[in-house]
Amino acid sequence: MEKGERLAVETIIVGLAERSYPIQVGIGNLGSLGSLCREGGLSGKAVVITNPTVAALYLAPVLRSLVDSDYEPIVLQIPDGEEYKSSETLQQLYDGLIENGGDRGSFIIALGGGVVGDIAGFAAATYLRGIPFVQVPTTLLAQVDSSVGGKTGINHPRGKNLIGAFYQPKFVLIDLATLETLPEREYLCGLAEAVKYGIVLDRDFFEFMEAHIQPITERQKDALLRVVATSCRIKSSVVERDEREGGLRAVLNYGHTIGHAVETLTGYRRFKHGEAVAIGMAQVSSLAFQKGLATDDETRRVTALLKNLGFFTELPDYSPDDYAEIIGHDKKKRDDGVTFIFNRGIGDFVMEKIVDVRTLLLTCVRGEHR
Ligand code: NAD
Ligand code: GLY
Repeated sequence: MEKGERLAVETIIVGLAERSYPIQVGIGNLGSLGSLCREGGLSGKAVVITNPTVAALYLAPVLRSLVDSDYEPIVLQIPDGEEYKSSETLQQLYDGLIENGGDRGSFIIALGGGVVGDIAGFAAATYLRGIPFVQVPTTLLAQVDSSVGGKTGINHPRGKNLIGAFYQPKFVLIDLATLETLPEREYLCGLAEAVKYGIVLDRDFFEFMEAHIQPITERQKDALLRVVATSCRIKSSVVERDEREGGLRAVLNYGHTIGHAVETLTGYRRFKHGEAVAIGMAQVSSLAFQKGLATDDETRRVTALLKNLGFFTELPDYSPDDYAEIIGHDKKKRDDGVTFIFNRGIGDFVMEKIVDVRTLLLTCVRGEHR
C-alpha cells in the first residue's frame, strides 16, 4: 500500500439470526485479523489453511497478526489448483488437524481464493462435527462471491462441488490490497460475478461500473471498495432471504448455464470460469431481448460493459445441438426443463423453465447483439 493511503473500512452484516456475521472490507487491514478473532470470541488453536502461492505473499502478516493477539498459529498448506479441491486433499487436512491436536475449541482461517475457502470451510463444517472458521479471501472472485454465503465443499471426479455443506463463517476479512498481486485473468473472473449482480439485481451498480471502466480495470482503490462492498451487500441480501437455495439464490447462477456449456465444449482449456460466465451473460441478455424482457439499448449496454471490461462475449462456434445436449444432458432435465435466469431490463430478473433448450439457443448461435 502507498504511504499515506487511507485505510477505508466498511462493514456489511450478513443477517442470518444466530448465524449472522460481519464482512469487513478495507485496504491494508490484514493486520487486524488477530484482534478480530479475539473480538469474535475465538480463543483456541488458530489453524491457517492456505496454498504456497498465497502463503508466499500474505502468510507472514497473517501470522504476525495472530501472534500479536497471543495465538500460536498452525499452518496447513494445500497445493494450488482446482484439481486439489478433492477428497484426497480434504483427508490431508483432517490428518493435519488431528496431528496438531485440533480440538473443539480450535478454529480454521481460510487464507486464499475460492478453492482454499471452499475446502477449508468444508473441513471446518465436518471436523469434529463442526468448528468455527473465518474467511480471508484474496482473489476478487472470493471477495465478491465465494467467501460470502456459506457454500463450502469439494469436487468429485464426476462433477464440481458435488460434496458440500452450507456452513457460515464467523466473519469475513477482506483486504483489497491483496488484489494488487492477482493475475489479470483471475481479476477478470471476479469482475464477471460483480457485473452479474448489476445486471440482474442492481441497476445503480451496473451504471456505476459503466461509468468507471478505467478505475475498475486499473484496480484503483476507491473503485475497488465500491465494487467489492456493493457486491457483498447484494450477495448478503440474497443469502439472507434464501440461505439454502430454495429459490431466489438461484439468481446468482445468471449466465452460468450457458457459461458452463462453453467451458465444457472448449474442454476447460480456452476460458476460465468467469470468462465463460461473461459469454453466458452476454448471450442470455440477447435472449432476454428476443423474449421482450429487455430493450435493444439495454442489451447493447450489457454487451458493451462486458467488452469494455475486457471480456470476450461471442459464443464459441458449436451447434445449438451441442449446447442443448450439455445444458439438458440427462433425460430428467430434457423432460422437465432447465431453469434459466433472464434479466428483465437491467437490475431485475425472471426465472423460467425451458424445456426446448435447442430452440431457445438458436438465436444465440445466430449471433444477435455482437
Ligand atoms: P483460486 O482459489 O484457484 O485462485 C486463483 C489463483 O489465484 C490461484 O492460483 C491462487 O493461488 C491465486 N491467488 C489467490 N490470491 C492471490 C493473490 N492475492 N495474489 C496472487 N495470486 C493469488 O480461484 P478462485 O477464482 O478464487 O475460486 C474458484 C473456486 O471458487 C472454484 O472452486 C469455485 O467452485 C469456487 N466458488 C465457490 C463459491 C461459493 O459460493 N462457495 C462461489 C463461486 C465460486
Ligand atoms: N455462487 C453462487 C452462490 O453462492 O449461491
